[in-house]
Amino acid sequence: MINPLPDLNKIAIAPSILSANFASLGQDVAAAERGGADLIHVDVMDGHFVPNITIGPQVVKDIKQIAKKPLDVHLMISNPDQYIKAFIDAGAAMVSVHIEAVPHLSRTLTLIQSLGAKAGVVLNPSTPAGSLEEVASTLDFVLVMSVNPGFGGQVFIPHSLDKINKVKKVLSNAGVKAPIEIDGGIDETNIQKVVTAGANIIVAGNAIFGKSDPESSTLALRKAALAQKI
Ligand code: DX5
Ligand code: ZN
Repeated sequence: MINPLPDLNKIAIAPSILSANFASLGQDVAAAERGGADLIHVDVMDGHFVPNITIGPQVVKDIKQIAKKPLDVHLMISNPDQYIKAFIDAGAAMVSVHIEAVPHLSRTLTLIQSLGAKAGVVLNPSTPAGSLEEVASTLDFVLVMSVNPGFGGQVFIPHSLDKINKVKKVLSNAGVKAPIEIDGGIDETNIQKVVTAGANIIVAGNAIFGKSDPESSTLALRKAALAQKI
């Protein structure tokens, strides 16, 4: 099945299945796609880098069979190099790794790209935007965490708006036009603010799958995101 990447310079909505019902994951993914999801965001946690355990490559492989949209795999794990190939073989189109978890970041980004996926760098809330400087020309996208990673349904950290601006500056100083993804606590009340700040891939878990109808909640988020463009 071919799922080409959307134009990541436009607003892309990436529902995070972390808040979906895992007993009916296929229906939840399909509902989000009917609502206009551009990517499916998959949160991989190991109980070591973050205090929660979620899913591995086999589940990604199964989602790949039913998803129409590309899979955006967010690795919140120690030693991601060991598992990157397994996740890309399973169907990840985008793979992001935490700068805090990787000792040789440019090598890891090159590994992801050599296996045919887009390579993203994730910054925890306490990690400065300046830490991207030396890899700005190598990365394909940046993921700004707007909560401390590990759980869905947390409250958006307001300082993340400033962080998006700082990341934008680091990228533009390096002459790089890479998409900025934002992840954590996004809902209809703050999505306009993150888009205005410069994020264009918007992850939302609880705001989509925490509602009774993931189709209409995905649609509502996009409407709220685009409202500022008018
Ligand atoms: C948090 C995860 C997020 C999370 C977002 O560690 O990376 O992707 O699922 O969920 P909400 O939108 O509920 O904050
Ligand atoms: Zn995530």
